[in-house]
Amino acid sequence: MDNAINRLTELNHQYVWHPFTQMKDWISEIPLFIERGEGNWLIDTDGKRYLDGVSSLWANIHGHVRPEINQAIVDQLHKISHTTMLGLTNVPATELAKMLVQIAPGRLNKVFYSDNGATSVEIALKMAYQYWQQKDHPIPSKKSFIKLKESYHGDTIGSVSLGGIELFHKVYSPLLFDTYDIPTPFYYHSKYNTEKECSEYSLKILRSTLEKNHDNIAGLFIEPYIQGAAGMIVFPDGYMKGVQALCKEFNILFIVDEVATGFGRTGRMFACDEDHLEPDIMTVAKGITGGYLPLAATLTTDEIYNAFLGEYLDYKTFFHGHTYTGNPLACASAIASLKLFEKDKTIESLKEKIIYLSNCLKPLLEQDYIGDIRQKGMMVGIEIVSDKKSKNSFPAEIRIGHRICMEARNHEVIIRPLGDVIVLMPPLSITIDEIKHLITAVRYSIEQITRRYGQ
Ligand SMILES: Cc1ncc(COP(=O)(O)O)c(C=O)c1O
Repeated sequence: MDNAINRLTELNHQYVWHPFTQMKDWISEIPLFIERGEGNWLIDTDGKRYLDGVSSLWANIHGHVRPEINQAIVDQLHKISHTTMLGLTNVPATELAKMLVQIAPGRLNKVFYSDNGATSVEIALKMAYQYWQQKDHPIPSKKSFIKLKESYHGDTIGSVSLGGIELFHKVYSPLLFDTYDIPTPFYYHSKYNTEKECSEYSLKILRSTLEKNHDNIAGLFIEPYIQGAAGMIVFPDGYMKGVQALCKEFNILFIVDEVATGFGRTGRMFACDEDHLEPDIMTVAKGITGGYLPLAATLTTDEIYNAFLGEYLDYKTFFHGHTYTGNPLACASAIASLKLFEKDKTIESLKEKIIYLSNCLKPLLEQDYIGDIRQKGMMVGIEIVSDKKSKNSFPAEIRIGHRICMEARNHEVIIRPLGDVIVLMPPLSITIDEIKHLITAVRYSIEQITRRYGQ
């Protein structure tokens, strides 16, 4: 290890607390410092190259250091880096809002900015709640929310209340508000014989929850088509349409969280486009800037927006805002990213890549310890099991998913697991050759590690 890395390692170990990281383990290892990026590759301080297999936490879209995005940020930097949206506005935030509305599904006409996925969800939550309190003919009893049991919407207390991943959320339970919970239609781990039955069961519980409680329910939050952090759980066909129909039937808001799925990740600009869904509120973040800078948005309909209009002393204002709301640099980056979608024909070119990826993944199911492979567009989860028949996991102390991802680094790939699920979510700009490299490295890493730790 050269002196510079030695020094940085000492500084990192002494001063930095990393997210979602057991720091006791962290400080016993030498961290990998990523110094540069080049297209779909990350380059460390020794000049070693790794394919960015999870788009730098599901954010990068067109590759790293794209000149068009860099230039847009630099151009904006020369004008102004930050000014406030409270009482003032700025050019990129205004231009971007129009572009977002043009591509957004259904009747989403208004854009409220924030700076990360969790805040975009907090905003959706408060907006939905306040809407019922002050719309024309208000229904003040509508104060609660429905969520799917294994949801993930971020790490702030409101979004944690809407989440259900025990490992992340249990410790905070006394701080959280109650929700109505319905089962995730997770076919692989269900007792059902068909995906349809699994889906119908979840919809049946949703219907009965709504029949009994719709007067108390403001809205339903859902990650559309695929639950990401829960382990890449892909919903059965028709499920999302069923959920939307029930929300409409029982007069509750249909709120979709496209933080992970938005901006092409599922093969369409938004996952909702698959069935032309029309959410009342939609949250986006991660890929909005091409994965370059922090920015998020909560989009909603005229109907919801109008419920916040009135005389100042009516106090119908949406009293919410963050310092960096609508940051001009981030918005300039987002505009450049949306222009690249057109220039590169990003969505059109995805079809071939998704099919290729799917064909590469199929043979992996023959491996002894791969229980299930779930794919939605460019989002993939490979579930590792200790026994295919029982679908049991490896003992938690082995940390099989973590070991596989560490092994992948030896084969020039950076990936990060969700427990025992190996996640692949490369930038949309990945090439066919790079997909081949990714899958070869992942297959080999799974083989090596499961052979070592399997029965
Ligand atoms: C569906 C979904 N919603 C919200 C979030 C939270 O986003 P952020 O990490 O930007 O707060 C995530 C992050 O993974 C997510 O997958």
